[in-house]
Amino acid sequence: MFQDQKVSFSGVQPSGNLTIGNYLGAIRNFSKYSEEYKCFYCVVDEHAITVRQNPAELRRRTYETLALYMACGLDPDQNTLYVQSHVHEHAELAWILNCFTMFGELSRMTQFKDKSSKHADNINAGLFTYPALMAADILLYQTDVVPVGIDQKQHVELCRDIAERFNQIYPGTFTVPEPIISRSGMKIMSLAEPTKKMSKSDENVNAVVYILDDRDTIIRKFKRAVTDSETCVRFAEGKDGINNLITIYSCFTGKTFEEIEKEFEGHGYGDFKLAVGEVCADALAPVQTRFHELLSDKASLEAQMRKGAEEASYYARRTLGKVQKKLGFVKL
Ligand code: TYM
Repeated sequence: MFQDQKVSFSGVQPSGNLTIGNYLGAIRNFSKYSEEYKCFYCVVDEHAITVRQNPAELRRRTYETLALYMACGLDPDQNTLYVQSHVHEHAELAWILNCFTMFGELSRMTQFKDKSSKHADNINAGLFTYPALMAADILLYQTDVVPVGIDQKQHVELCRDIAERFNQIYPGTFTVPEPIISRSGMKIMSLAEPTKKMSKSDENVNAVVYILDDRDTIIRKFKRAVTDSETCVRFAEGKDGINNLITIYSCFTGKTFEEIEKEFEGHGYGDFKLAVGEVCADALAPVQTRFHELLSDKASLEAQMRKGAEEASYYARRTLGKVQKKLGFVKL
């Protein structure tokens, strides 16, 4: 579809305030592909409604997520940045892919199991078939790579299985994508319970550092981070809290774990936590400044949304048309 140019696709749900997990595990890595790949980065509002959302908040976060994409360095002239519900082909292909996705496969998804235990009063069909919509997002653009955090690997693998199954029946339809998981930021953990993923839906705000937290809040949250009863900064089994802080420090500074252990030799956890807070706040400050500038101009954001949706629709239409033809739908 893109004359030998490879395609990168990823998405983020506007379902909460974005965290440094979203930043280090996903968004920061998106721009690595902008030069060489044709890139599509989507604000996946249709995924967000698998859990009840307040309409005003969903709307606000949709603008904010698009602004954050740009504030994190994604140039809208180089990347197609858009909102999922503006390109109706996502929902249409999702229905088709539902018919090529097995009940047993969906039942095994760990995110479905987690979310259905958290939202026991709303285990809706959308929550269950969510991976088919995610597969539609990816396959519509004949995607080669999907940069994500490790928690999304299982969904991308299911997407590959769906694409291969479809291609077996209707050869040559979809490119089979690869998940790309950055080694360093693949899973940033909660600061309060470091065996759990840092999540934008965590009710404990001290467990999570948001991309938009101010400097004092960031430093205070890192100072409170749960560690262990040792005092030595070293990466080791059973030191989940310290391992997480070393990982975060490494992501922001580019230093290896050994370099970090050396740097903090003879220092206590207090000094180390302060240093992690400072590098995080320093790295996020320019992102925040740019974010506020972008968000203050709603008309420009809407113009970007429109431009992104038009670009994405062009490619999405082509793939959906091809799929419909292969399936035997009558074209008028
Ligand atoms: P979402 O919105 O939960 O998260 C967005 C991205 O952030 C990554 N991430 C993390 N990485 C490291 N550490 C963490 N603590 C952490 N928390 C989140 C996620 O892995 C993800 O890459 N289903 C997806 C959205 C989606 C999508 C897609 C992604 C919809 N369609 C197509 C890729 C391709 C989701 O819920 O991500």
